[in-house]
Amino acid sequence: MAAAAAACRSLGLFLAVLAVSFSGVWSKSFTITNNCGYTVWPGILSGAGSPSLDTTGFELPPGASQTLQAPAGWSGRLWGRTLCTTNGTTNKFACATGDCGSGAVACGGGNAAPPATLAEFTLDGSSGMDFYDVSLVDGYNLPLLVAPSGASPGAGNCAPTGCLVDLNAACPADLRVVVTSSSAAADVNADGVVAACKSACLAFGSPQYCCSGEYASPGTCGPSAYSEFFKNACPRAYSYAYDDATSTFTCAGGDTAYTVTFCPGTNSVKSSSPNSGAPGDLPLINGTMASAGGDQQVGTAAATQSTPRTLVVLLGAALVMLAGGALS
Ligand SMILES: *[C@@H]1O[C@H](CO)[C@@H](O)[C@H](O)[C@H]1NC(C)=O
Ligand SMILES: *[C@@H]1O[C@H](CO)[C@@H](O)[C@H](O)[C@H]1NC(C)=O
Repeated sequence: MAAAAAACRSLGLFLAVLAVSFSGVWSKSFTITNNCGYTVWPGILSGAGSPSLDTTGFELPPGASQTLQAPAGWSGRLWGRTLCTTNGTTNKFACATGDCGSGAVACGGGNAAPPATLAEFTLDGSSGMDFYDVSLVDGYNLPLLVAPSGASPGAGNCAPTGCLVDLNAACPADLRVVVTSSSAAADVNADGVVAACKSACLAFGSPQYCCSGEYASPGTCGPSAYSEFFKNACPRAYSYAYDDATSTFTCAGGDTAYTVTFCPGTNSVKSSSPNSGAPGDLPLINGTMASAGGDQQVGTAAATQSTPRTLVVLLGAALVMLAGGALS
């Protein structure tokens, strides 16, 4: 009797485990790596109604890497803060670029002050697809690469995207953000450094550049000479609000690991997607202007893939064997 009851319980557990295993709940993650020669403080903001990640901001020294599990349906943005310091008088933490206004290393719901290079995600969105992009719509502060691995085969442009070039040195004079001794990062020895590059919308605020007012549609808001500066250097990144056609990437479901790399280096990923004319067919780096000095080899960080689903199936099989043993 007891054996039969135990077998029933095992079988019940096995069925429950099977149900979870095939319900389409994937195990996704973000591995954030700092390849820059300086410390970066990643900031994370979850979208309204989205579950949150384990952290909203942390310090990432050069060469360091941190993996965060992504809850199902997570949406939000990730960026890098630079030239951060804690003010000795106020004891408040602040950054010259990407500051989230929290006064602390954790952003706690604070958004990135532009200009900042943004990695934007909507996981498990329409048709179960993940949507992601790298946006320079509000400007740029550091090179950033987003690379998916382990997605299920299927529709979509499941390719690396980002902006691999250092645009601060090349930034047009009227878009530059220069660190001054009166800025937040006064402690940092960075006086006079070009730390970021504004978008034209941020610099001038005009409706043509911001795609607002009269210009609030794809038909009336096109690229400008300023947005072309960003697009030419970073063909897969958003350069203005309606740059969707060449800047939105999608992966089918799967236990997808997204690596987000700051300063990935320019001779990194050259993969392209099979659908011709898709954003993944554009070069990540514009070869005709690839002079940029960053030639360090990129860690395409093939993040070790955890396979909880396989484990779950194995566990189920073991339970079936146990149940079989108990019944006989
Ligand atoms: C610290 O904050 C105070 C008050 O906002 C400001 O006057 C001072 O310049 C800051 N110090 C540094 C080193 O940034
Ligand atoms: C590369 O840059 C050149 C010069 O700025 C530009 O004319 C060309 O369209 C760019 N190519 C891509 C694929 O963005």
